[in-house]
Amino acid sequence: MAPARDVFSATVLADTCPFDLCDGSGFVFDDATNSARDCRCRAQRVSRARARSLSGVIPRKYRGVSFDRPPVTEIAAPVTAAVKRFVNRIDENLDGGRGLWFFGSVGTGKTTLAMLVSRQALEAGRSVAIYSLPRLLTDIRRSTFDEASDSVDLLDRLAAVDLLHIDDVGAEKTSPWVLEQLYAIVNARYEDERSVIITTNLERGELAEQINERTVSRLEEMCEVLPLWGPDARQQRPGV
Ligand SMILES: Nc1ncnc2c1ncn2[C@@H]1O[C@H](COP(=O)(O)OP(=O)(O)O)[C@@H](O)[C@H]1O
Ligand SMILES: [Mg+2]
Repeated sequence: MAPARDVFSATVLADTCPFDLCDGSGFVFDDATNSARDCRCRAQRVSRARARSLSGVIPRKYRGVSFDRPPVTEIAAPVTAAVKRFVNRIDENLDGGRGLWFFGSVGTGKTTLAMLVSRQALEAGRSVAIYSLPRLLTDIRRSTFDEASDSVDLLDRLAAVDLLHIDDVGAEKTSPWVLEQLYAIVNARYEDERSVIITTNLERGELAEQINERTVSRLEEMCEVLPLWGPDARQQRPGV
């Protein structure tokens, strides 16, 4: 497993090879023939390099998340068991384009569990982009209307990253044009079988009103829905 310091620097390439095959360069050198070939870790390196300027680092508040520590230990066992099953086969799930959809009211641990999954994906050396939906939409809008930036590049990278993690889906209303870009990203990932994780406190119908039926039905097909119930833990613990 990667050392802890590498886990959250999603966008920084680990300097060691996760397979112990190369010197961290992504190439295996053959002294006898004076040649080099791609290392098994090179595809991951390229993908992580592409994700470099995406928003990929776990927020400080969620960096310590772990199955054996509160608040995760206080979340309903069937939900944490499903998350554990998912992360135990993280590579297989990401390669198969399978994702998770955390649904529940505020303060029930949705963001915590989603961060736990992203953390495990990063530890497995996969590229992850973590966004709140409002931030994602702002970046899309900005990249399109700011002539200096390359919107095609941003959309391509959002479509190509191993795991796209979108927090708080449906949190804000936005323009039809931006929603069309969101659909394009989700649809590209759907067609390429690339994983998505979302958290939302909206019911399916409300979500469809906010971000379009087409986008929701794609996400529904790509994700296992995990409902979280319970009181708002933030309110039970003032100051949290
Ligand atoms: N089931 C729970 N039991 C105790 N504390 C929890 C639980 N779920 C979340 N928390 C705590 O409540 C706060 C909000 O958690 P978060 O995952 O951000 O909730 P959500 O995304 O569902 O609004 C965090 O401080 C977290 O540690
Ligand atoms: Mg949340």
